[in-house]
Amino acid sequence: MKVGIVGAGGMAGYHYDGFVRAGAEVVAMADTDLKRAEAFGKSRGITRFYPSLTEMIAGEPGLDAVSIITPNKFHKPLVIEALNKGKHVYCEKPPALNASEMAEMAEAAKKSGKHLIFDLNNRARPESQAMIRFIREGIVGKINSAQAYWIRRTGIPGFGSWFTNKAVSGGGALLDLPHMLDLAMYFMGYPEPDQVLGSVFYDFMDNRYYKGPWGMPDVAGGVTDVESSIHAMVTFKTGQCLMVRSSWAEMNEREIVSVTFQGQKAGGMVERLFERDGLDDTSIDRCLLFREEFGHQTDLKVKIEKDESMGRINMAVNFIEAIEGKAAPYNTPHEALILMKVIDGIYASAETKQAVKIT
Ligand SMILES: NC(=O)c1ccc[n+]([C@@H]2O[C@H](COP(=O)([O-])OP(=O)(O)OC[C@H]3O[C@@H](n4cnc5c(N)ncnc54)[C@H](O)[C@@H]3O)[C@@H](O)[C@H]2O)c1
Repeated sequence: MKVGIVGAGGMAGYHYDGFVRAGAEVVAMADTDLKRAEAFGKSRGITRFYPSLTEMIAGEPGLDAVSIITPNKFHKPLVIEALNKGKHVYCEKPPALNASEMAEMAEAAKKSGKHLIFDLNNRARPESQAMIRFIREGIVGKINSAQAYWIRRTGIPGFGSWFTNKAVSGGGALLDLPHMLDLAMYFMGYPEPDQVLGSVFYDFMDNRYYKGPWGMPDVAGGVTDVESSIHAMVTFKTGQCLMVRSSWAEMNEREIVSVTFQGQKAGGMVERLFERDGLDDTSIDRCLLFREEFGHQTDLKVKIEKDESMGRINMAVNFIEAIEGKAAPYNTPHEALILMKVIDGIYASAETKQAVKIT
């Protein structure tokens, strides 16, 4: 299996490690900033570099698959180009800027007959995979309700960078942190959404004390027009419901990344609590089931080895194994479309101050 990476962004190392771990070969890299691609690739034995996906595909006739790690605005055109040229595609999150783009991408994947899988890496964390097994084995029963939180207190990435520019990023905290919303719906069986009611806030977007400890440098004079936090409620046609909180900057004791759910037989939680915002090495991971056994209320603590990559390497392995028919893909274009419809619904509800029907 021969793979080419597009975009030498922060996730490239995880994509590379996962592809290699699964037995694939990373043969080439494309980036509009060739120097950045070379700096990444040369230490890993990649020898061929291109300034665009188009040139990489033309120069590498043996390529089976490509991965896309560019700013969000470029996901749709690059994904569709690669699919139309017969390549399997692995694309960073968020899938697209909005649901209508995602619908076009899903259509292109269907026409091409190739895999389109997104790096919704939190599904591939060991605790998420442990929890989905309990759910699928019937321990939890139907999940009535869930709460999906990615709450950062001080996590605005690079003021004025592409992350804070809606035209390039598509949105702020909600679109950038779709992982817990996705994970909750994964646990719930990805039901069809019915209605969404949401509010969006823009506080602290001009306050440097709320900058995250990682990532992009600030860009002087750059655009900052995305939200810092959202709160929403989603109901599903199945009768299930989901509360969502996402923030880059919001008053809270600490960063919390979690999905909690209430099933008809058991409840559960996958949680990452941070001692210090944004610093992975200060995180505490927990995977818990809440049950009643023989008249006693019991908590089952599932012991999981810490995955420093938060599932990112496992997710890239899954892409290769899905192509080879060795594993079911961890996510599908159909699910990505539902995810984007819910995200669009939250933004639309906040704007209209009305509940929004999802169709
Ligand atoms: N899964 C995760 O945990 C996670 C974490 C961080 C970022 N991301 C996602 O990764 C993507 C990239 O984010 P980043 O922080 O690495 O951004 P970045 O700006 O650091 O890197 C993007 C790279 O893409 C290149 N590029 C831009 N347009 C291109 C094009 N049309 N063709 C080829 N190369 C192009 C840029 O030159 C740059 O080197 C985003 O979609 C982001 O949401 C995911």
